Amino acid sequence: MDSGEGKSEIDRLSAEIERHNQLYYVEGESEISDRDYDEMFRNLELLEERFPEHASPNSPTKRVGGAPIDGFQQRLHEVPMLSIDDVFSEDELSDFFTRLRKNLATELVPVTIEPKIDGVAVALHYRNGELDYAVTRGDGTLGDVITENVKTIRSIPLTLPAGAPAWLEVRGEIFMSTERFAKMNEQRQEQGLPVFKNPRNATAGALKLLDSREVAKRPLDFIAHGLGGYEGDPIASVQDFHSVLKKNGIPVNHPVWEAVDFEGAVSAVRELDQVRHDLPYGTDGAVIKVNSIADQVRLGATSRAPRWAAAFKYPPEQVETVLRDITVQVGRTGSMTPVAELDPVLVSGTTVKRATLHNQDEIDRKDVRIGDTVLIEKAGEIIPAVVKVILEKRPADARAYNLFDSIDGKCPSCWSPIVKPEGVVAWKCRNPACPAKAANQVKQFVSRKALDIDGIGSIVAEKLVEREMVISPLDLFDLDEAQLAPMNLGTEDEPRILGPKNAARIVAALEKAKSAPLHRWLFGMGISQVGESAARELARLHRNFDEIASSEILQELRTFQAGQRKEDNDTLAPYEIASEVGPAVAGSVLDFFVLPVGETFLQRLKELNLNPTSANYAPTRAVPEGAAAGEVAGKTFVITGTLSAPRGDFKERILALGGKVAGSISGKTDYLLAGENAGSKLTKAESLGVAVLNEEEFEALAGSTAPEETGEPGTLFDL
Ligand code: IVH
Repeated sequence: MDSGEGKSEIDRLSAEIERHNQLYYVEGESEISDRDYDEMFRNLELLEERFPEHASPNSPTKRVGGAPIDGFQQRLHEVPMLSIDDVFSEDELSDFFTRLRKNLATELVPVTIEPKIDGVAVALHYRNGELDYAVTRGDGTLGDVITENVKTIRSIPLTLPAGAPAWLEVRGEIFMSTERFAKMNEQRQEQGLPVFKNPRNATAGALKLLDSREVAKRPLDFIAHGLGGYEGDPIASVQDFHSVLKKNGIPVNHPVWEAVDFEGAVSAVRELDQVRHDLPYGTDGAVIKVNSIADQVRLGATSRAPRWAAAFKYPPEQVETVLRDITVQVGRTGSMTPVAELDPVLVSGTTVKRATLHNQDEIDRKDVRIGDTVLIEKAGEIIPAVVKVILEKRPADARAYNLFDSIDGKCPSCWSPIVKPEGVVAWKCRNPACPAKAANQVKQFVSRKALDIDGIGSIVAEKLVEREMVISPLDLFDLDEAQLAPMNLGTEDEPRILGPKNAARIVAALEKAKSAPLHRWLFGMGISQVGESAARELARLHRNFDEIASSEILQELRTFQAGQRKEDNDTLAPYEIASEVGPAVAGSVLDFFVLPVGETFLQRLKELNLNPTSANYAPTRAVPEGAAAGEVAGKTFVITGTLSAPRGDFKERILALGGKVAGSISGKTDYLLAGENAGSKLTKAESLGVAVLNEEEFEALAGSTAPEETGEPGTLFDL
């Protein structure tokens, strides 16, 4: 075969494979067996190896992902990616139609109504029938280029059939189907990996991965809903646009309703409400769009959203069920939460059996009794809550509930007496060794924003406590592989052994955690009132635990009365303490260290030879201590990898401190600031002996408060 024949065979196979991809992933059909498909694929791979000059960047073989990248480039949207204005009631929808009629000076306004897809917005640019690049919404003006990640999504064609428009910018949502999401989470759980909260977070998390081979393993899907830039045969209506999509094998949203007035639109919105839980993706609304593109142009847009579209938001679904019992759950800090045990009901597509009742005051306020029929609600990803009691349905034998009496004043987990501290609504277990508390404390300690112990999830944490291998979080550091590996995470009948590999992973993560900065420890200890931001602020004000335990700053702050301001206090003013740390936090922290738990904690740290230190110590922000002032001034930085904030933010700070930022590593580079998944720049820096800083080290050097972490899957893309 010569090069010319090679090219035509590569083209033929590529087109054929893409056709089968479309059939399978878009139409849900298949014409050939998996084996035949695999063989075709393998042939294409072989030919591309033999004639690399003809291998297209959009070849179906590229869908398995390529080499990891250093970070995402950014790109301006040629047409801004706007949002949609929400309408929350049928009245507001009627107002929308009134505005349309007025602005278009006509009685009837043809519209389409379609489901609002809960995913991550993306713009796909096709030039002359080839996928050119894909960008996230970003801030609507500037987005991340995620082409390599998008190519792994099988339902997105990489090449369009002959006759495609010269330029087609398709906008749509990348999402995970509810079903495939559940399956993925199940597998992750089995592998001891953290599970995702919901499909949307999982999608956003997948798209921000810098290694497209990893993205290829995530069950992502795509549906188009809008047109961005375009050069081609005229498109006059939403229907025209849909046929362009269909012709080009791009997945179109459905079902779609058509209406010409408010009444028609409302009935479509109601019909969609009936069927939306059967759709493969999450949806909490209907999008109503003016049909005619000419009218869309006439209506125009505000800086935020077009005037020709509205998103009708369905109210959270409320369902009646019977409350059979109230049980008590013990939280991390020992708080007792009453939980309603319900007759199982389907709410927003999931079966609900339990709902939180928050605390005794709430139970009294809502007058909830055992045996009552209650209205429950599940809003988005929030845990179901009891909204109210249906009093008319109260049976004669409904029983009032009292938390204290129901558990005889004893913690249901350790039987020690429960107490109700003044000013607090929840009853608490004060036993520091209470197993329920211990398991939850361990979970907090190992969580990602705390010490990030890879391999210890809920199940492992609970088992460790149940077996008394761990009583307080610091006991984790005594564990070794030999103890961990044989642990049975399952039951006697169905054993599930942790195994040597996972054991080694856990021990390695624990070793690494020993040098984690103070703020992560503080957050991980689960001191009441100390969230992530407060922990960081405390670490900015103190070098280590000893300083915190005897902190004059905190002692001064805890005496504050309502209305007093830190800025007016001579002792505190120079520290410019952030609002996250106030009298309540100060009190809670100081109390912790004088209680036996805190004392034991400090003692154990010393025994373990650990002294977590602040990575962002800068008590008086102006004169950073420790990190010699001027460390940044005059120095040249290169930034790479994924950091907790956009690289631009870091660049700005370096510049503000008198430093320089370069695009590539050279002999003149002083520091490489390397985030996660740093690639070739890191290798080069290491080979040239350039100092490499992680984010925390950079914070120490820059000597100011770190930007808030946004590492949660799903928070990278600002939607
Ligand atoms: S039409 C200018 N249709 O929701 C906006 N958007 O909250 C025109 N979305 O920006 C977009 N499903 O990313 C449209 N069926 C649908 C949608 C949809 C989800 C997203 C889209 C939009 C956001 C607004």
